[in-house]
Amino acid sequence: MPIIYHETSKEFHLYNKQVSYIIEIMENGQLGNLYYGKRIKDRESFAYLHEDEARPLGALTTPEPNPLCLQYTRQEYPAYGTGDYRYGACTIEQQNGSRITDFLYATHTIYEGKKKIEPLPSTYVENKKEATSIEITLYDKVMDTNLILTYTIYEELAAITRQARYVHNGEASIILQNAMSACVDLPDMDYDMVHLSGAWARERYIKTRRLEQGIQSIYSMRGASSAEHNPFLVLKRRNTTENQGEVYAFSLVYSGSYLGQVEVCSHDTTRVLLGIHPDTFTWTLKAGESFQTPEVVMVYSADGMNQMSQTYHTLYRTRLVRGYWRDRERPVLLNNWEATYMDFDEYKILRIAAKAKEAGVELFVLDDGWFGKRDDDDKGLGDWYVNLQKLPNGIAGLSRSVENIGMKFGIWIEPEMVNKDSDLYRAHPDWILSVPERYETPSRQQHVLDFSRKEVVDAIFAMLDKMIGESKISYIKWDMNRYITECYSRAAAANEQGKIMHKYILGVYDLYSRLTTKYPEILFESCSSGGARFDPGMLYFAPQTWCSDDTDAAERLKIQYATSYVYPVSSIGAHVSAVPNHQMNRITPLATRANVAFFGAFGYELDLNKLTTEEMKQVKEQIQFYKNYRKLIQQGIFYRIKSPFEAKDTAWMVVAEDRKEAIAAYYQQLNKVNAGGLRFKLLGLEEDMLYEVTAFGETQKYYGSELMYAGIPINRDQFAEDIGDFASVLFHIKYADN
Ligand code: GLA
Repeated sequence: MPIIYHETSKEFHLYNKQVSYIIEIMENGQLGNLYYGKRIKDRESFAYLHEDEARPLGALTTPEPNPLCLQYTRQEYPAYGTGDYRYGACTIEQQNGSRITDFLYATHTIYEGKKKIEPLPSTYVENKKEATSIEITLYDKVMDTNLILTYTIYEELAAITRQARYVHNGEASIILQNAMSACVDLPDMDYDMVHLSGAWARERYIKTRRLEQGIQSIYSMRGASSAEHNPFLVLKRRNTTENQGEVYAFSLVYSGSYLGQVEVCSHDTTRVLLGIHPDTFTWTLKAGESFQTPEVVMVYSADGMNQMSQTYHTLYRTRLVRGYWRDRERPVLLNNWEATYMDFDEYKILRIAAKAKEAGVELFVLDDGWFGKRDDDDKGLGDWYVNLQKLPNGIAGLSRSVENIGMKFGIWIEPEMVNKDSDLYRAHPDWILSVPERYETPSRQQHVLDFSRKEVVDAIFAMLDKMIGESKISYIKWDMNRYITECYSRAAAANEQGKIMHKYILGVYDLYSRLTTKYPEILFESCSSGGARFDPGMLYFAPQTWCSDDTDAAERLKIQYATSYVYPVSSIGAHVSAVPNHQMNRITPLATRANVAFFGAFGYELDLNKLTTEEMKQVKEQIQFYKNYRKLIQQGIFYRIKSPFEAKDTAWMVVAEDRKEAIAAYYQQLNKVNAGGLRFKLLGLEEDMLYEVTAFGETQKYYGSELMYAGIPINRDQFAEDIGDFASVLFHIKYADN
């Protein structure tokens, strides 16, 4: 069993080949942490790793002769107020106004496999042998409340998941004001904190900062995980690179408001907290009620950032994403958004679709503008029935016409939203999140439906169900184009309002769950003004996410590079769009636009009728290339080689699991004149394997060791002459048997 309980020392050791995580039951009955990091050999006791020496001014939590000073002691689920002055994992207000808690070890169970925590999304196992779990039950006798901390360690991956559940039995209600998913205390502070922060059209830029005493955090109080900070953070050693060095990574499987906080204390310990944001949350528990926190997925890597990402990719692609599309190759799609925006009719759409079919596209996606009176973004949201002026044969007719052309049909929806100019709002003005008698703040001219209310979710489900049922829908792009303001439900009592932010997300998960259960073969792509809700919670329901509204190839290099820290290539929606680019007004070569979008769930976002014959020929070749290699690209092992955040060039590659095939890509920004030579060093190949490498229309043979250590010489003049600014080249690398 990879989880051992040492009875005499009262220690739990969770380990696999790569990682060890050691918990102790401390003298006072609370849970402490002894170690988290690279696998260490098991022994009866690691008590020597416990540190609690009282420092001057330290408060002693337990009396002599075994005083415990919690001020910098490493703990599993600490609380503020009894000698630990740092931020804690829980704050619970009780009837007498006190917020002091004392959760002590009561019991534990260790079992093979991993339980679901639905309705919340979580990673899973298919076979019980894939992981081992432990549930440690702690008990606070004054409140009469159990706190169950669950840990799962995967057998083959350096991944440990965590979550907490409160089960309240006491007669007197308690109010959870802060209920984090996990706390991890590390013994030193010699880390850089890395996170993915940004905004619309520049989501998930890599930010790195040195840890210092005090608090550093990422968060969202927007009701969505947000474009501002992805719910993911890394602590890495200062000399860690893509390919070497220690990394601790934390990813929250949640799509709503959250907090990821790192605190360094004055004795140089580091505390990481992750969970629902406490400032937009209060949750009253009556006797017999329970509260489940979202899951945190912690990944450890002793060998750099690439290995961390590969662990997340494998876990999220195969044990978070579910269903029909999990292991299937994703279709090449064409989306009409940048081709027409909302200005279209059936003739225009079918003309674009026919050209897409000619190019080899497999799925046509009709974006925003097909429903209600939706000619502009100030009207129509909420009315999920077709606009017959634009589409006289309805979605039913259009979807059949597209299928007759020989493609699948997909559609855009934004189910969580409403415009005031809509039939839905006119019938139910109280269905939006808003406070009576106060201003209702619009954003993109729209308002957020109160998905904490079942009747609202029911009504939206009924409309969508009807539309889907009547038509031939193979794909749904589920968008969400504004954040929450005035988070107040007109259906909830005053003391229930603190629940709404979280209940909203539960409502979103509920609708996802109903639709994916009823229509298991529909491919869902989540979206939020591009990538404002690109998180693991969404991936549980929708296997891919529209990465960003910025479709410029050079910008996408940054966004996709950083997104790959956590999210697998198969989950990253990436399309070739027209030039000049609609967001950047930049012109990049058609080849480079495809070479970037290939490293994602690939498609087009333009009207192919507007291309020249030569460009159309190129598009056909691109689509054929992607179809040939998409299994390798979507399911292979991804390596980042050169970062656009550090250099003017970018490079990355995917390698097949058996190392016999790979696709590598090298991208430059501006041309250089009379430039020095360049060696492109690959990663992840077999040293002694002979490979045929095809690029620039030529094929050469090299051993894996040459490709990785000597590198392929790239002639920059060829870039300059053949392509110019934003040039790029793909290398196809294939095992040669002799
Ligand atoms: C968001 C999406 C876009 C498009 C528009 C439609 O911005 O990210 O891809 O669907 O909405 O309004």
